[in-house]
Amino acid sequence: MLQLPNVIGHRGAMAYAPENTLESFREAHRRGATWVEIDVKLTADGVPIVLHDSSLKRTTGIDRLAPEMRASELPSSVPTFAQAIACFAELGLGCNVEIKPCEGREAETARVTVETLRRLWPAALPAPLLSSFKDQSLAAARDAAPEFARALLIDELKDDWRGRAEAVAAAGINTNGKRLTAVRAVEIRKAGYVLSVYTINDGDVARALVGMGVQCVITDAPDVILAALQ
Ligand code: G3P
Ligand code: MG
Repeated sequence: MLQLPNVIGHRGAMAYAPENTLESFREAHRRGATWVEIDVKLTADGVPIVLHDSSLKRTTGIDRLAPEMRASELPSSVPTFAQAIACFAELGLGCNVEIKPCEGREAETARVTVETLRRLWPAALPAPLLSSFKDQSLAAARDAAPEFARALLIDELKDDWRGRAEAVAAAGINTNGKRLTAVRAVEIRKAGYVLSVYTINDGDVARALVGMGVQCVITDAPDVILAALQ
């Protein structure tokens, strides 16, 4: 049974600290988050790292593609997945691990992610949630490590959402909160899926979504949304 908190810090607490960094995870924790969401992809030498874009340009100013670099070449602000897990262990943070593969590495990224979780995820922490926009990544995760709960990330829900969720044996649906309709929310909850939304930074919007049946709000500002949902 998938258990999620009602608020998850997006890429840590990216309203307050550089996204997907150890600093951002600490900031999320300071601001009351009990879980964070991170994006995991692979370097050229197959090391799982925490980074949203393939390019390092936006977050570090370096005009190179991380999937074409060796892990040892990356700036120290980009954590490896192992470093992120060690930080979560220290802070007692749960994690929604978004598998964010670069093109063509969907299954490999999922396999490396779950192998790393099996090796390093502390038993004392809540079980992590895997998510991905890529059905292929979730299918590979299910095949390699069915014990980790999965959520299908869908920006705009269409009628095929349920078939896609069933195909990867997802426990949850994580969707764009700005596009979610009340009808879809009811449909998803009635079908027994845990419903999460991203990326909601406005307290009134978060309250309205929870009123529609949303169970978990992924936000850049966990303190704001925690206060709004209290
Ligand atoms: O996992 C929720 C959200 O992070 C999905 O979109 O682009 O921010 O990874 P993105
Ligand atoms: Mg993400």
